Amino acid sequence: MTELVHTRADLATARADCKGTVGVVMTMGALHSGHETLLRAARERADHVIVTVFVNPLQFGPTEDFDRYPRTLDADLEVCRRAGADVVFAPSVTQMYPDGQPSVRIDPGPLGADLEGLSRPGFFHGVLTVVLKLLQLTRPDLTFFGEKDYQQLALVRRMCRDLDVPVEVVGVPTVREPDGLALSSRNRYLSAGEREAALTLSAALRAGVDAAEAGADAGAVLAAAHAAFGAGTPGADLDYLVLTDPDLEPGPVAGPARLLVAAWVGGTRLIDNAAVHLAPRP
Ligand code: PAF
Repeated sequence: MTELVHTRADLATARADCKGTVGVVMTMGALHSGHETLLRAARERADHVIVTVFVNPLQFGPTEDFDRYPRTLDADLEVCRRAGADVVFAPSVTQMYPDGQPSVRIDPGPLGADLEGLSRPGFFHGVLTVVLKLLQLTRPDLTFFGEKDYQQLALVRRMCRDLDVPVEVVGVPTVREPDGLALSSRNRYLSAGEREAALTLSAALRAGVDAAEAGADAGAVLAAAHAAFGAGTPGADLDYLVLTDPDLEPGPVAGPARLLVAAWVGGTRLIDNAAVHLAPRP
């Protein structure tokens, strides 16, 4: 049975009933099969699964529409039930921020200022602040984050390491449509034509991965990815297409690396990434 709680007090009671390991999956709702995969990963590893559903105002910029973000709690509960979640914590903004917006926030450091942080200033301060609060409220042994939001995953890992938060952060591979499009709550904003253009992101990653598997070095992998992006259906406006090391530190020369892409498709910002293994420079 899945128990729905809205207050800190009810969450504390439900948490106290959890004997054994606890896994937490944090979401902003509008759950899709990508989230369901996170929940199932949690179900496999933990004795109890808590899902949080909270649209966090702190991570919305002034031009991003917090009020228009989809809120679909009934459908979300159905997904949670199907995936075997034990507790769903869906607090109000006042429950999460009883004293108003917090004046002390988590500083994501240099990693938070790059990539997504460049076009969304303050975004990762808001994300890490609510993630830390939710970790304090739920006190899990494990927490599960999708690799789709790779920079978020890297920053949560970094925060837990740097601030000694006693939780294992588990990354869960991205779920894709059969044609390669990474599942995202934002895909619902795409028209049919935009969805076609959106495939350019995964096509670029695929080309990079294929090049790496064929023995290409960093420069050739990036060149292959850029060429595939350029050859895709017009309509995707590239923001960045970069190679980093697996922890998002700058510039790998060889070995395990991450290829990350972000683009605007119409009014929708999309991101995607893939693991690659780079051959040494000849
Ligand atoms: O990835 C998300 O949905 C959000 O950034 C998170 C981690 C739930 C924090 O609000």
